Amino acid sequence: MTDTFQPRIVGFCCKYCAYAAADLAGSMRLSYPTSIKIIQVPCTGRVDVIHVLRALEEGADGVMIAGCLEGECHFLEGNLKARKRITQVKTLLKRIGMDPDRVEMFNLSSAMGPRFAEISREMAQRIRELGPSPIPAKKTEDRVA
Ligand code: FES
Repeated sequence: MTDTFQPRIVGFCCKYCAYAAADLAGSMRLSYPTSIKIIQVPCTGRVDVIHVLRALEEGADGVMIAGCLEGECHFLEGNLKARKRITQVKTLLKRIGMDPDRVEMFNLSSAMGPRFAEISREMAQRIRELGPSPIPAKKTEDRVA
């Protein structure tokens, strides 16, 4: 893959941990790819299979879901439910011939700014190696508002 490919990655981040960790990474002036578009969610338990598939359909080359450490979800089991859903998404992607590694779930605490930067760079590198999404980009007029 060419060095110019900048993967578009959607990051669903729980506001209690991953979003705060992303904020911390910024405060610490740690670099992570700007091509990661962060969507703050109240808990990763709110991220459904359809949200991930829709992100891919709308042009994301990869999707990362980042929630609280296991056992520390503010809604008890939201992150565990999210992990199960991400496993389902990976199975669906495999069935349609898409690499399941385009989607990944991570767990971290709000104090893990450096870890957030690290997983963001890892995810970007992984998607760079996989190349652009095989799903044709939608035309602007076809996009869901
Ligand atoms: Fe963070 Fe549930 S509150 S994953």
